[in-house]
Amino acid sequence: MDQKEKITPQSILKSKKIGRKISMLTAYDFAMASIFDEAGIEILLVGDSLGNVMLGYKDTIPVTLEEIIVHLIGVSKGATKALVVADLPFGSYQISTEKAVESAILLSKNGAEAVKLEGGEYPEAIKEIIKAGIPVMGHLGFTPQSVNILGYQKQGKTKEGEEKIIADALLLEKLGAFSIVLELIPEELGEKISKLLKIPVIGIGAGKKCDGQVLVSYDMLGIYQNPPSFVKKYGNLRGEIISSVKNFISDIIEE
Ligand code: KIV
Repeated sequence: MDQKEKITPQSILKSKKIGRKISMLTAYDFAMASIFDEAGIEILLVGDSLGNVMLGYKDTIPVTLEEIIVHLIGVSKGATKALVVADLPFGSYQISTEKAVESAILLSKNGAEAVKLEGGEYPEAIKEIIKAGIPVMGHLGFTPQSVNILGYQKQGKTKEGEEKIIADALLLEKLGAFSIVLELIPEELGEKISKLLKIPVIGIGAGKKCDGQVLVSYDMLGIYQNPPSFVKKYGNLRGEIISSVKNFISDIIEE
């Protein structure tokens, strides 16, 4: 899509109203962010998946606010039109509402135009972050920061699980979140919540019927070796990089 105007939380809300699907990708550095921005992506997420993709951690739990900020600085400079959303990492919002607001303000000062946090367990934090002037995106379903409780598996498969995700989604909307990411849930539940909420629902492994889709960029570009099975690959950059580097090595040896 040839995006001409700066994307804002308000324009994201409007997209849902007019039935236009929303595109979102993770970005972790200046160069990639500027490429995705030029291609017309609407939301760039400085996700805590940077722990896996950039730093080689086995999950997102070790990721710190400082690590998010380093990557956020680059992404925010590369994004001219895309809305820049940064993840509040594990430990930056669970301890107290004050700490949550302080963490969100730090992200905001370093280029985040909105912040994302996981679960429906911190309503006060969400309310106060919004009160401080920072738009909030929610994240429900499989929430990676709770992997040690949830295990890496589809959520919302039972009646009880489904009801909890729906209740949390309605709560986040009521609190003023401008959108919600739904991760790894049944397609029918993704569709049901998308129809139920006025705010946009952006799915990842949540079926095609959500108001938008997000993927980890290194998965869809074919760079990261073991992407989740639901990921459609749009490129094979790993292969291309290996062959470019091999060509470079050959040139050196032949000189
Ligand atoms: O950190 C991340 O990449 C995310 C996406 C999975 C939405 O939160």
